[in-house]
Amino acid sequence: MKKRLAILILAGFLAGGVSALGLYMLQNTNPGPKQVSSGKALIGGPFKLTEHTGRRVTEEDFKGRFTLVYFGYTFCPDVCPAELQVISAALDELGKKGEKVTPVFITIDPERDTVEQMKEYVGNFHKSLVGLTGSPEEVRAAAKAYRIYYARAKDDTSTEYLMDHASIVYLMSPKGEYLTHFAYGTGVEKMVKGIAKYL
Ligand code: NI
Repeated sequence: MKKRLAILILAGFLAGGVSALGLYMLQNTNPGPKQVSSGKALIGGPFKLTEHTGRRVTEEDFKGRFTLVYFGYTFCPDVCPAELQVISAALDELGKKGEKVTPVFITIDPERDTVEQMKEYVGNFHKSLVGLTGSPEEVRAAAKAYRIYYARAKDDTSTEYLMDHASIVYLMSPKGEYLTHFAYGTGVEKMVKGIAKYL
């Protein structure tokens, strides 16, 4: 089991790295005046999901606030809880400024992550954390909009299956536009500085 976890963490780390590299490349190809705006347009977009309170929401409900968007799942043994702890600590450290930022945790495991499950789970982290779930189709569409890879781990047959997923935190503007991202393993201090630049 230890070895499995290590492999999963490595996979998450690599996926994060690949995503970051992909973003870097997207932003650095076709240099020219459109460079920044095209980079922004590639991450994020419309979605329809259900909040951990049971309320149906779309991207419009988050307009006017910065969001830190992170995809994962509540049964994740290590990567997701670690990342959500970093997000929570970073927002706490930002203090008053951090109140402008809403952390959003979107599940990529909607079959197990029901509204009830999400509600219970988000209570373990920052008080402003919003959990989002939905139908498998809705989740797929949201993950696609944010370029997040995920898949059920193939060699797991039990109900306690693991999910492989990219672990990357996006900072989105109050207009819902991509501002920056943090790869898995980014420390609290670095995240605080990275966010504060935009507030
Ligand atoms: Ni995870």
